[in-house]
Amino acid sequence: MVEQFQPDQPERSASNDEEISVDWDLLRREAAKAAAKAYAPYSNFHVGAAAITSNDQLVTGSNVENISYGLSLCAECSLISDLHRVGGGRIVAVAILSGSGQPCTPCGRCRQILFEHGGPSCLVDGDGTPRTLAELLPGEFDQDRFAQG
Ligand code: THU
Repeated sequence: MVEQFQPDQPERSASNDEEISVDWDLLRREAAKAAAKAYAPYSNFHVGAAAITSNDQLVTGSNVENISYGLSLCAECSLISDLHRVGGGRIVAVAILSGSGQPCTPCGRCRQILFEHGGPSCLVDGDGTPRTLAELLPGEFDQDRFAQG
């Protein structure tokens, strides 16, 4: 018998009722450090991302480009790899910065990738004002939709 893989379930609530306090200065500082480690010789657009998890772990990532341009990895993808490197869990808040220190809004693909590991209530600072993933990715493809067939 084939066992069905059970992915982590994002919390279904998009509300921030249970008032989480996020150290955005720390996340922005760590995102800036990660941006300094980016490998982006083709676009020269360096990106760093830093997130805090529900069990208070800090995870970071930077973009890694490739001469075959379409194979480039966004900073948010690297961050999710880092999340699993430290043992997994849920991300609750993410800051994304470019190498010049400007907030960097996540691309569409990264919104979906962050959603898988943060759910709708995850806060994302991609333009200087933290917003939920529910707001950034309306109509997301999620596990409920997948289960509906
Ligand atoms: N990039 C990211 O790392 N994250 C995003 O959300 C937007 C774009 C990277 C990909 C590429 O290496 C560079 O920025 C220019 O598009």
